[in-house]
Amino acid sequence: MSDRFDLLIRGGMCVTPNGIGEADIAVREGRIAAIGSLATVDAAEVFEARGLHVLPGVIDTQVHFREPGNQHKEDLESGSRAAVLGGVTAVFEMPNTYPPTTTRAAIEDKFSRARGRMHCDYAFYVGATPDNVGALGMLEQMPGVAGVKAFLGSSTGTLLLNEERDIAAALKAGRRRMAVHSEDEARLRERKGLAKPGDPRTHPFWRDVETARLSTERVLRLARAAGRRLHVLHVTTEEELPLLANARDFATVETTPQHLTLAAPECYERLGTYAQMNPPIREARHREALWRAVSEGLIDVIGSDHAPHTREEKEKIYPDTPSGVPGVQTLVTILLDHVGAGRLSLERFVDLTSAGAARIFGIAGKGRIARGYDADFTIVDTNAKRTIENSWIASKCGWTPFDGMTTTGWPVATIIRGQIVMRNGTLMAKGRGEPVRFIETLNSG
Ligand code: DOR
Repeated sequence: MSDRFDLLIRGGMCVTPNGIGEADIAVREGRIAAIGSLATVDAAEVFEARGLHVLPGVIDTQVHFREPGNQHKEDLESGSRAAVLGGVTAVFEMPNTYPPTTTRAAIEDKFSRARGRMHCDYAFYVGATPDNVGALGMLEQMPGVAGVKAFLGSSTGTLLLNEERDIAAALKAGRRRMAVHSEDEARLRERKGLAKPGDPRTHPFWRDVETARLSTERVLRLARAAGRRLHVLHVTTEEELPLLANARDFATVETTPQHLTLAAPECYERLGTYAQMNPPIREARHREALWRAVSEGLIDVIGSDHAPHTREEKEKIYPDTPSGVPGVQTLVTILLDHVGAGRLSLERFVDLTSAGAARIFGIAGKGRIARGYDADFTIVDTNAKRTIENSWIASKCGWTPFDGMTTTGWPVATIIRGQIVMRNGTLMAKGRGEPVRFIETLNSG
């Protein structure tokens, strides 16, 4: 074996399973080949990381990239460009596209569209419907598939799995962790009239706390009965947290940067429908409860739920406006700002954005800085202070709910399998993303 490495990341403060400390990292053939004091090694390329922190690559396990069907809002190229510019090295993309990702052909189509166009690594979820329940066990085994996603209440798109017998059948149909959007469809329909035309402040009253609590209570009961691992996406209420705390043997929990940062009614007064998403952003007491859940370890991952819609769509009259806000590009800086403010340690940031994703989805060879793992790094300057601006946003939607916010802590490089893909805000290498590999499906394909 030659002693020459492809890349040496020199002198950074590295967040490894040992803690935070200065180390050099050597990369060969896309993997971490050595960690330690490597001043004398020979490398084709050297990245000077002195004064910077080297984190495991950030994995965003919830994004909507709109392709196929709605490429006017986003596509796999533009969404993944936004990801790497924001310091994200891999994304799990959602199935509520047109057509939805519910068949083998639709999954194969997404992978063929992704090849050579996506800048970060990627996995795709398969959507559950009453009609494909019988096929889910097979579909979730396809290589690069992150797992099954079910919308228990309707949101953007047509995907819905709301009847109890269908939810139970989907839970029994497969074995991998199943992800759910947890809002109760019957209650959403009953309360639709509470969404007052022109007043997005009514969004969290229509889609109220009980809508989320009821659904989460039901799906936890059904998953427990089925003996199935469950992942509850974007949890937003204080009331769901004790239910989840009683299900830690099989359930994992996600929340989002926007639910940890914004609060009602202020966000609707300031941003109007640009703060409208499902489940909604709620009053400050829920935000504080989510922070407590972060510090108690009840939250496993933070996903952005990047859900771009055009300004034209957002500027219709509520509730004829689509729900969703972009976030894949702002996730890292928003969370680093919370680190700087003392709400989150850097170690917990890493736990929530890479180690947690690897642990709960069984990602093969990603999620930690360790020898033999993929050389995926999010290199950050924890002292850099800048203002987030719409003009920085690479998503086709061209806006962010965080426009005008000054944050401390910014990504300065995104390295994927040893390739420097973003440096100082510039895209350096294009379209080299590959499917994420999962431990449970290493043999399929
Ligand atoms: O606000 C949301 N927007 N919530 C979702 O569940 C879907 C997403 C979208 O695709 O726009």
